[in-house]
Amino acid sequence: MRSPNPPLGGLSVDDFMRRHWQRRPLLVRGAFPGFRSPIDPAEVFALAERDDVESRLITAFSARWKLRHGPFAPDELPSRGRRNWTLLVQGVDTLHDAARTLIERFRFVADARLDDLMISFATDGGGVGPHLDSYDVFLLQAHGTRRWRIAPPPQDRTLAPDRPVRQLARFEPTEEWLLEPGDMLYLPPDWCHDGVAVGDCMTFSIGFRAPSRHELLRAFLGDCADEAPQGPDPRYADPGTPPTRHPGELPAAMHGTLSRWLLDWRPTRAQVDAFIGRYVTEPKPSVWFEPPTRRLSDDAFAARLADASLLADRRTRMAYRGNRFFINGEDLRLEGGLRAPLKRFADVRRLPPGALADAPVDSPLFCTLRAWWDSGWIHFAPADAPALGRARRSAP
Ligand code: SIN
Ligand code: CO
Repeated sequence: MRSPNPPLGGLSVDDFMRRHWQRRPLLVRGAFPGFRSPIDPAEVFALAERDDVESRLITAFSARWKLRHGPFAPDELPSRGRRNWTLLVQGVDTLHDAARTLIERFRFVADARLDDLMISFATDGGGVGPHLDSYDVFLLQAHGTRRWRIAPPPQDRTLAPDRPVRQLARFEPTEEWLLEPGDMLYLPPDWCHDGVAVGDCMTFSIGFRAPSRHELLRAFLGDCADEAPQGPDPRYADPGTPPTRHPGELPAAMHGTLSRWLLDWRPTRAQVDAFIGRYVTEPKPSVWFEPPTRRLSDDAFAARLADASLLADRRTRMAYRGNRFFINGEDLRLEGGLRAPLKRFADVRRLPPGALADAPVDSPLFCTLRAWWDSGWIHFAPADAPALGRARRSAP
């Protein structure tokens, strides 16, 4: 699948991935020509009112930085006439269809790397201060103007003292640009950056994550610990141990057995493969799915499948590898006719009408889609809605 219309100006995705991705910044003037934000500031403030949405307010009034976490009632936000504040709202791609549609333009990078789309609203002078991120980020100027200053990954990562947000103590910008609506700046991890609003502005940050080895191990070991033991679970025993004359000393036999258990422990290939897929498709803790309000019988479901497309919910995360398929932190084997349709579904996030024409109601494919639909992970496209493929091309 080729990503349609990547927002990279004249640059091809191959050239972008070879020359810039993870290597060097790229400024794309008019990445989204004539861009008009599909989400207005009032909608961003409304999202920040919700307790299931991660939001932060960063103010720099009288040169004092302050951070507060949402939710924010409307009267808790500073007035729009006041300078030097910014509101950040995470995960907007899971909350707003237009944000999800926008992300489709970045699917020349694997979904497994995607973190989220964050929106920042800022009044004149507002920003989060000079910092660096461990993420790749596309900073799309959605509304108003913002001055970005950047510098290469620094030797000195000392943080400014007494700040509630991580800001670099020293920041010597090497480049600077004023971004207008539709302009976009790509930054690899560890590049220093500071974006300051020039008048009211909104920036969309499309962030791509990658776990560190320690983060991955922590999650994996936690996952293993939650599983019931596979096979026998021996307990340390020491029959026939003579009385000790040094009760404070850790017995050699005990240390020997316990250390052998730890050093000899190896996850199986199957455990590792299953974990990685579940890990990259696990929705964020704040995400929940709404099951359909109306139940459908199998026959009614089959009838809808015959003439409506199935779309992945904007919150649904999917990945496949070999004969395994992962969706929203769960895994299944791609067998019994599941393989081709589900791989295609993960790639285009849509199954056209009639895709199950040959699949009887008790087939694995039918039962799988049925279960996903019952969980709210997939939906039927409304009859008059454009398919995602088309919406992508007509996106702003
Ligand atoms: C912002 O939009 O203000 C911050 C985004 C970033 O620096 O990553
Ligand atoms: Co940043």
